[in-house]
Amino acid sequence: MNARPTAEPVTVLGLGAMGTALADAFLTAGHPVTVWNRTPQRARPLADRGATAAATPEDAVRASDLIVVCLLDNGVVDRVLTPAVAGALAGRTLVNLTNGTPAQARDLAARAAALGVAGYLDGGIMAVPPMIGRPGATVLYSGDATAFATHRETLARLAEPVFLGDDAGSAALHDIALLSGMYGMFGGALHALAMVRDEPGTLTEFTERLLVPWLTAMLGSLPRIAQDVENGPAGPAASPLAMQEAAYVNLLDASRDAGVRTDLLAPVGRLLAEAVRRGHGAEDVAGLFPVMLTPAAAPSAG
Ligand SMILES: NC(=O)c1ccc[n+]([C@@H]2O[C@H](COP(=O)([O-])OP(=O)(O)OC[C@H]3O[C@@H](n4cnc5c(N)ncnc54)[C@H](OP(=O)(O)O)[C@@H]3O)[C@@H](O)[C@H]2O)c1
Repeated sequence: MNARPTAEPVTVLGLGAMGTALADAFLTAGHPVTVWNRTPQRARPLADRGATAAATPEDAVRASDLIVVCLLDNGVVDRVLTPAVAGALAGRTLVNLTNGTPAQARDLAARAAALGVAGYLDGGIMAVPPMIGRPGATVLYSGDATAFATHRETLARLAEPVFLGDDAGSAALHDIALLSGMYGMFGGALHALAMVRDEPGTLTEFTERLLVPWLTAMLGSLPRIAQDVENGPAGPAASPLAMQEAAYVNLLDASRDAGVRTDLLAPVGRLLAEAVRRGHGAEDVAGLFPVMLTPAAAPSAG
């Protein structure tokens, strides 16, 4: 039996795929859980497992000192936090795990403080719903350090909690930085699948036999790239940008020949060309970094 009489009560606002997984993990760990969702039917399976389904977000907030919010976006969070709900938040800890921007997180932290919220934490969930409550999932937090320390054990029911400091926007910034890396990888991988779609063998075989080992090998070079960005090149480039620029033309030509749109990868080609023009042609891929931080140049002819 998992029930722990001392486990603190938790309220979860939002029972989409992620909110449901969060509430489920708290229930599994023996916490008294109160849930609210716009579409009430989504609360039924959790209620069957022992959660209390509140009729309104205000009722849900009043049920616990720890309030976890996981809605579609922060526009929805604003809509749900009506004046009555906001009033009920005074003296409680608000943990917003809704995906958003750092500016939205800082704004919500400031509004929470004005409402008398005991502590505000913003979070970025680095997991998909089936990973919640299991090893391998991480949630990034930032904001009120005291609130994090107080509720750390409860938040650890969801995933490994990582605290990034008292800037409420920091978790969202890191979340979005990590998602940027993920989308680059997913986009590149889908482009690769499109290129070989008519080749013998299945796409699954291609992925398992060639794509994953290749990407895994390239992942190993990321710390070296970060070091080069921070400290400048450690030595002569093994793959200078001038060489890469020449080869990249082939990547774009072969994509067009294969009937694959170049929307995704053409911008990298433009960055390569600009980096070479700006004198980074002898550097490895870290030479793209300063170019990414300068205003976009007018596209070159051709
Ligand atoms: N799923 C993932 O893989 C994943 C991973 C990491 C982070 N996240 C983040 O977690 C958050 C929730 O994601 P999710 O997967 O649970 O999304 P979802 O399944 O689409 O659920 C969206 C939630 O927002 C509610 N909602 C939408 N519009 C609303 C409105 N106008 N008023 C009140 N409630 C409204 C929905 O209520 P109804 O049920 O009534 O529609 C539902 O509870 C998002 O910010 C997402 O970026 C998700």
